[in-house]
Amino acid sequence: MLNAMHHAVQAAANALRAARRIAVLTGAGISAESGLRTFRSAAAPDLPPDMQALWKEFDPQTLATPEAFAANPDLVTRWYDWRRIGCLAAEPNAGHLALAELERGLVQSDGSYTLLTQNVDRLHQRAGSRNVVELHGTIIVWRCTRCGEETEPAPEPMTEFPPRAPCCRDPRALLRPDVVWFGEALPDCALRAASDAAESCDVFMSIGTSSMVYPAAAFVLQAAANGARTVEINPDPTPISPRMDWSIRAKAGDALPRIVELMRTG
Ligand code: APR
Repeated sequence: MLNAMHHAVQAAANALRAARRIAVLTGAGISAESGLRTFRSAAAPDLPPDMQALWKEFDPQTLATPEAFAANPDLVTRWYDWRRIGCLAAEPNAGHLALAELERGLVQSDGSYTLLTQNVDRLHQRAGSRNVVELHGTIIVWRCTRCGEETEPAPEPMTEFPPRAPCCRDPRALLRPDVVWFGEALPDCALRAASDAAESCDVFMSIGTSSMVYPAAAFVLQAAANGARTVEINPDPTPISPRMDWSIRAKAGDALPRIVELMRTG
């Protein structure tokens, strides 16, 4: 690691080791090393040819809306089911695993840890993270459009599009992914948990997010305003980079294991 980066990694590890209350926000970037594409990258090299065409035709953000689902539930549910299968096939990477280890160490020493994620892939939970707040819901669970009942579809591609909801006899009752679409409100409980964490943490880490989508991008600034030290891990600069105590230009899978090791060894 370059000297400047090494200094930032060491300083961040020192602040995290001294912290009693840590909050973390993650975005699509922490799952990039698990093979899952991010939202604002230009191409999607990991897509099969038929989905490449679909991806080229549609900006994902035009599919992730209630309007798109109402207009074309077949297309939207096919796209989400394809992404769901991709998430189930992906494995947590070193960045996910390092965060789970950080949480275990802090909780064992009676500290408090909150992981806020914008990701819907549940790789944090599969890596062993416990206190995870899914700000944008999850693609692994789907819910009935009529009664709201949730179901976890089998870990194989769906065969019916749009999928009918098994809980309601009404043929218009469909299953939709339990994610927060553009224009929809984040779950109240998630917002409260995120705000409480930002208010009370000693250190707030922002990892693998372009920090362009609100309210998620505001929590690190709320934490800073409350006196928390702030760390960013992202290979690219973001709008919040200049306001971080330490902005580490690295991949999450490289920087996080190093930080956790330095927290352990001093
Ligand atoms: N490690 C860390 N960061 C990475 C890595 C990596 N290996 N690879 C890419 N990144 C960074 C990119 O530089 C980018 O800044 O991850 C960020 C991903 O940004 P986005 O694609 O905008 O994803 P995210 O910030 O999670 O988007 C927020 O927008 O589309 C909505 O609901 C969707 O939750 C998503 C929200």
